[in-house]
Amino acid sequence: MLPRKLLLLLLVAVGVEAGVEFAYEGFPAAGLSLDGIASVTPDGLLLLTNDTDLNLAHAFHPAPLRFHRTSSFSTTFVFAIVSELNDLSTSGFAFLVAPTSRDLSSAMAAQYLGLFNASDNGDARNRVFAVELDTVRNPEFADMNDNHVGIDVNSLNSSAAAMAGYYDDATGAFRNLSLASREPMQVWVDYDAAATEITVALAPARSPRPRRPLLTTRIDLSTVVADTAYVGFSSGSSIVMCRHYVLGWSFSLDGAAPALDHAKLPKLPRIGPKPQSKTLAIALPMVTTAAVLAAVGVGLLLLRRRLRYAELREDWEVEFGPHRFAFKDLFDATAGFKDKRLLGTGGFGSVYRGVLPGTRTEVAVKRVSHESRQGMREFIAEVVSIGRLRHRNLVQLLGYCRRKGELLLVYYYMPNSSLDKHLHGHGHALDWAQRLRIIKGVASGLLYMHEDWEQVVIHRDIKASNVLLDGDMNGRLGDFGLARLYDHGADPQTTHVVGTMGYLAPELVRTGKATTLSDVFAFGAFLLEVACGRRPIEEEEEEDVYGDVDRFVLADWVLGHWRNGAIIRAVDAKLGTGYDAAEADTVLRLGLTCLHPSPAARPSMKQVMQYLDGSAPLPELPPTYVTVNMLAAMETHQGVLGTWAVWRSASSVATMSDIGLSGR
Ligand SMILES: *[C@@H]1O[C@H](CO)[C@@H](O)[C@H](O)[C@H]1NC(C)=O
Ligand SMILES: *[C@@H]1O[C@H](CO)[C@@H](O)[C@H](O)[C@H]1NC(C)=O
Ligand SMILES: *[C@@H]1O[C@H](CO)[C@@H](O)[C@H](O)[C@H]1NC(C)=O
Ligand SMILES: *[C@@H]1O[C@H](CO)[C@@H](O)[C@H](O)[C@H]1NC(C)=O
Repeated sequence: MLPRKLLLLLLVAVGVEAGVEFAYEGFPAAGLSLDGIASVTPDGLLLLTNDTDLNLAHAFHPAPLRFHRTSSFSTTFVFAIVSELNDLSTSGFAFLVAPTSRDLSSAMAAQYLGLFNASDNGDARNRVFAVELDTVRNPEFADMNDNHVGIDVNSLNSSAAAMAGYYDDATGAFRNLSLASREPMQVWVDYDAAATEITVALAPARSPRPRRPLLTTRIDLSTVVADTAYVGFSSGSSIVMCRHYVLGWSFSLDGAAPALDHAKLPKLPRIGPKPQSKTLAIALPMVTTAAVLAAVGVGLLLLRRRLRYAELREDWEVEFGPHRFAFKDLFDATAGFKDKRLLGTGGFGSVYRGVLPGTRTEVAVKRVSHESRQGMREFIAEVVSIGRLRHRNLVQLLGYCRRKGELLLVYYYMPNSSLDKHLHGHGHALDWAQRLRIIKGVASGLLYMHEDWEQVVIHRDIKASNVLLDGDMNGRLGDFGLARLYDHGADPQTTHVVGTMGYLAPELVRTGKATTLSDVFAFGAFLLEVACGRRPIEEEEEEDVYGDVDRFVLADWVLGHWRNGAIIRAVDAKLGTGYDAAEADTVLRLGLTCLHPSPAARPSMKQVMQYLDGSAPLPELPPTYVTVNMLAAMETHQGVLGTWAVWRSASSVATMSDIGLSGR
């Protein structure tokens, strides 16, 4: 007989766990095998997703288990889905059993839950069993709704699914549960190999297991779960910041999963702002009525002053101190943010004109309402780092201030407002030479951000309304990185989550990842906008007979003129004949080149500069060139444009998570 210790060593060596039962109440010492963005927090919570970048998250029991064709299994876990937003979450997550031979790194995030990808969904060779807790309705998987529990065998098209909830033991009534309610809940999953029956139950945490299960279905897993397999959890992030936590988990092969002691589970982090500190309370001296009244008066004055100038400051901001403005200074600079100081209101907030006390510097103060703290630290770090960018075609950022629910950004004031006002407004139109100078200026600012600075800075929201004109009518790019803030904080009210319709590169819509080449795409849309004096996409007011809103797509229109051998006819009619035909020809063709659907076919900003200043000839467009919109129309109904359309409405839960991947 082998000595016990040697046997143990052998087992460890083949990496298969002989123990068939485990229980974790918190995971600080579980030694889970984690990949992607999954992590165990210092409190011992398993945190699957914590970003908005379409990343994968997997967490498995440290060693794979040996399943047999006749193995039954049982598991239970307590989880919570905590979204930054009240009524919006990313797709959920899943408990899974997957063979060790499976390479999960080729799975996809978002609605694929880190389980499958678009090509292997439904493939019997996957041999993956999963129970999904899904908070998004994905029509492509025939999901029943946006809050369901599903049994998935090799496919995200669930074999059986039920609305999240449980049957009350006492009354038998069905009670809804909202998976994304941020409240912990418990799931029980049992597979009885003899009866080939799977049962799933769900209940609020600390409630006993409901007698009547939520789901019962007969599926023979003997060819699915048989072999050495990992057991654990899988998820993928998407554009909404949403955290999937597992608080405790137990499992048993051929037995009942050990019960979890809720008292021993780690606590979820508190959500929402800290309770108000007591310092606002005013101690009232109980002397005479008069004294009390006087104290109240003074107290109210102090309180008012305090509230008026209240700021939000956190420890991590110390290092950014020099870039921090006092709210009182900004308040005074803008005469209390009076309406007559209002320069404009855009997707990201309102901008006020002001003069800083002391230095008398003219500034523009942008108030961005922003409830979420998530990503704020990275954002401020980025703002401060961008504040060090110095270029004559970039709007200089001076610093910031934070208040509750609000971020204030301080820029140098640009006296001639934004370019879109001159292009589309009623004011005096720009002549061709001015337009070309602005185009070249913006290109050089962008080249500096992309290639010439110490780190690559991606703008993410290039468009005419983000180009401001200084006293000499030079174009200067502003609003760097704001799109990024919304990326992290994902505000459903704004359509600017990662940019602006018509300027969004198709791969950015699909993957959520901004690159220098997605900036080049937006720059292409900008070129056409400036040369033609029209917006990239214009909606017609009236619906047509089919009830569709007609849409004017600038790139398609310019391409049509090019095909007819007269691209120059696309030039803004307001210019009359007052433009240089060769220059306009270059700008228009360059616009289309930058708008190429394939990032690899777009020029870099360095090449763009060379084409613009004539130091390199602009290659002809290939005769086969099509715009993104045309390509989408050629593809099936769910094309990129379809995604754009839903992106713009940005209110439907189902479509929010589609954004990443449904374009394919
Ligand atoms: C997400 O978790 C990873 C791993 O712990 C950590 O490095 C990263 O900073 C976290 N990101 C966010 C946005 O919290
Ligand atoms: C999908 O996953 C399979 C593994 O199941 C992998 O072989 C394939 O390359 C992946 N496909 C894509 C497009 O990533
Ligand atoms: C999943 O369901 C969708 C919608 O019904 C269907 O088009 C698709 O073919 C299904 N895929 C698989 C793998 O069953
Ligand atoms: C449960 O949810 C369903 C679907 O959302 C809804 O129709 C029903 O009214 C809800 N029931 C209760 C008791 O909230």
